[in-house]
Amino acid sequence: MGTVPKIDNGISAKDREAISEALSKVLADSFVLYLKTHNYHWNVTGPMFQTLHIMFMEQYTELWNALDQIAERIRSLGFKAPGSFKEFQKLSSMKEGDSALDAGDMIRDIIAGQDAVARSCRAAMALANKADDQPTVDTMVQRLQVHEKTAWMLRSLIDDSASVKGKKK
Ligand SMILES: [Fe+2]
Repeated sequence: MGTVPKIDNGISAKDREAISEALSKVLADSFVLYLKTHNYHWNVTGPMFQTLHIMFMEQYTELWNALDQIAERIRSLGFKAPGSFKEFQKLSSMKEGDSALDAGDMIRDIIAGQDAVARSCRAAMALANKADDQPTVDTMVQRLQVHEKTAWMLRSLIDDSASVKGKKK
């Protein structure tokens, strides 16, 4: 990640760097999920159109705002935030959206995305906990609440136990 900037806030440079790297993965996953959700807001079809069109809009708007909070935490720790498609693609643990999916599979794909961001948040939170980095822990707790609640709401919408077990289709 290059030179570690000098900041004397009680978190070692090594920890700040490791936490920033983990947060960069959270940011990349959040961005890919943001774009996927906006894609499905535009391209979803079928009898659930109205419900999903509105629900996806609420979700991508929330994600868009969260991107800023996560990126600015990385800056506060002294590092550059990733901000290009190339970086996001490299750092993200999930694939981009597919507008050809039917409504049910779009929902399943977003549920998997919500779970993927939750896993990245937990990895960043574990590092932050060890380093006494409470602001990062706080941010990750807030993100986890949103991701897990959204995943629950989407699961309830399709009432599909297969998606809960992670078995797609
Ligand atoms: Fe719209």
